[in-house]
Amino acid sequence: MRISIFGAGYVGLVTGACFADLGHRVVIRDVLPERIEALGAGTMPIFEPGLEDLVERNRERLVFTLDVEEAIEGAELVFIAVGTPPTYSGDADLSAVWTVVDELPGAFDAARPIIVMKSTVPVGTGAAVRSALDSRGLTGVGYVSNPEFLAEGSAIAGFTRPDRIVIGAFEEGDGNRVASLYDGIEAPIVRTSVPSAEMVKLASNAFLTTRISFINEIANVCELVGADVTDVAAGVGLDHRLGPHFLRAGIGWGGSCFPKDSLALKQLAANSGYHFQLLNAVIEVNELQKRRVVAKLQRRLGSLRGKKVALLGLAFKPGTDDMREAPSLVLAGRLLAEGADVSAWDPVADGRALLHGVEIADSALAALDGADAAVLVTEWPDLLELDWAEAAERMRHRLVVDGRNVLDSRQLRALGFEYEGVGRQVE
Ligand code: UGA
Repeated sequence: MRISIFGAGYVGLVTGACFADLGHRVVIRDVLPERIEALGAGTMPIFEPGLEDLVERNRERLVFTLDVEEAIEGAELVFIAVGTPPTYSGDADLSAVWTVVDELPGAFDAARPIIVMKSTVPVGTGAAVRSALDSRGLTGVGYVSNPEFLAEGSAIAGFTRPDRIVIGAFEEGDGNRVASLYDGIEAPIVRTSVPSAEMVKLASNAFLTTRISFINEIANVCELVGADVTDVAAGVGLDHRLGPHFLRAGIGWGGSCFPKDSLALKQLAANSGYHFQLLNAVIEVNELQKRRVVAKLQRRLGSLRGKKVALLGLAFKPGTDDMREAPSLVLAGRLLAEGADVSAWDPVADGRALLHGVEIADSALAALDGADAAVLVTEWPDLLELDWAEAAERMRHRLVVDGRNVLDSRQLRALGFEYEGVGRQVE
């Protein structure tokens, strides 16, 4: 099929490259000239494992353009994959979505083109776009909601081996055509109304954040009562009704999706007259979780003024250079506010633009030079293999706060470190 995709961000690029790999012809359109130019030259604007090779392999079926007409020419399916960041009020900012809808031409080459919404949008957006299309006389253009569930760092596997494909359509035939796009991918297809498909996306992310905030609170109680959250999570996760996933306690969830989508669902509920108490608590628990590290450091070091704290990892999770809403940002801000000297290192994410006043080091060991404490923020493989004996030599004070519960506390203690995890007991 002939597909056009509006938005060459992480969702648009991965989706476009994967559709091209399935044999479809794909044109990806973006408004950023430097992005389109770079993509044309084979340079990816984001770090996503396997993406560059996938784009290269499908060069013949993949076109990048700034031009709306070129993108729309012959298109049977028009995907919207633009960003929907939070506005000041916490609602999703749909301006980029509406720009795409407004830019659509008054006539298409295909007999019945279909607009497919991949961007994460509030429930009700599909109905609003439908009536905007109708009022422009585009009644022959279909509309389908087909939310994405890709996780950064494993997005290509998320496309090729998804848990499910959700398709919400106003017209059954439109839904069938979008479903046929995924021929060759083995996954249950969930067919729903448009509002239900929109809600599946928001509810899925909200439930995942609920699980993490839940296990983080269990971890905080574990610290007080002498239990170990990693053992507790293992025991809980074996119940087939609960499952093992998203039960890793840590310093909080971040990223481009969870914070924005949880806020958007909270506001969607509030705007509709419902106070979503549980989701409010989930969000608040996460805010507090990011700050608990500071209290842990203060307990061990006293005042942080003039103390050097090294942040190991800056990305919101491993496998990505994305620092949006990363716990590292809040942590760095709080530490600087307490008067600490903060150094940081990440193998991929570049904190220079976001972390003013933080010394960005060239290596993890360099970040630890003369440090009073190390905080493991992102569980990058490089950091799990760090030479802690060498780190011990370089640090002024041997203290490690393991924000992801991934380090070997016994080994660290044998090297003379004080160790503190999240919800873990250290014998
Ligand atoms: C998330 C969802 O997992 C995807 O299904 C969804 O499509 C995507 O948002 C989106 O809406 O686009 P992503 O933001 O890439 O994907 O990252 P996750 O792997 O879900 O991790 C999110 C955050 O939760 C990270 O900060 C991670 O460290 C944290 N986390 C995750 C935990 O603290 N504990 C866990 O057990 C799992």
